[in-house]
Amino acid sequence: MHIKKTWLVAVAAGLMTTMTHGALASSEGPHLASAGNDIFSQASLQRGARNFVGYCLGCHSAKYVRWNRVAADLGIPEADLKSIQFTGQRPFDTMVSGMPPEAAKRWFGNAPPDMSLLARARGTDYIYSYLMSFYADDSRPHGVNNLVLPGTAMPHVLAGLQGLQQPVYATHTGEDGKPQSVVEKLEAGDAGQLAPEQYASFVRDTVNFIEYIGEPVQAKRRTLGVWVVLFLLVFTAFAYLLKQEYWKDVK
Ligand code: HEC
Repeated sequence: MHIKKTWLVAVAAGLMTTMTHGALASSEGPHLASAGNDIFSQASLQRGARNFVGYCLGCHSAKYVRWNRVAADLGIPEADLKSIQFTGQRPFDTMVSGMPPEAAKRWFGNAPPDMSLLARARGTDYIYSYLMSFYADDSRPHGVNNLVLPGTAMPHVLAGLQGLQQPVYATHTGEDGKPQSVVEKLEAGDAGQLAPEQYASFVRDTVNFIEYIGEPVQAKRRTLGVWVVLFLLVFTAFAYLLKQEYWKDVK
């Protein structure tokens, strides 16, 4: 009886968590696209590292990540590492942005967050969707706005690659009964250097790298996990045989 009750409570708690989670997910913010990145693809991670250094590190640091750790994990030769580092940086330094946080805050109004743990805080889908959904908005200081983070202080630093998307507005009746103009979808505007598919994979690689720095051992941990489970299965078989052996005289 006691055991049954405990089970019931556990199942009920599980159901409630799933339900509230579902409810939250549906009532929260914009729909996020799936990042679809592959943490096991070293080629993608290498491209992502290059993108990150070239396009993000100017403002965002990854202050818990060492250059030489990234080089070792991603198979980047030390000589190549030197060519992407800022001058004067040593291989064991952390990936700190050239821009002092105070200056960044003054320039943009909001400091660019450190990237080390951002994928774990926000999720890869969020970062992917954020980078996909900048659009032209003349009312903003940098001339762009964002569907995922409306009013963002970040300029669209990838506009040269993506081009500048144009918003299509629709009028809805707001909660107060007044008509409201909301962005219904984004349309391709001026073309950038990359085709839409190429831009999506550029962003996917970048997000992949940001996920990797959030937990550098992740790929190893997951591979090791499979071996651990296999070991446990084999061990269970042996433990069972041993138990049969011990008990066969007792029965
Ligand atoms: C010119 C400076 C600059 C560059 C370059 C830059 N960012 Fe940002 N970024 C910012 C600022 C400023 C914010 C803070 C925005 C805010 O809080 O409104 C930000 C915020 C973000 C956020 C957080 C959104 C949130 O919910 O808090 C993400 C994700 C992000 N940047 C990703 C990137 C990536 C990936 C790159 C490289 C492709 C990049 N940024 C390049 C300035 C920059």
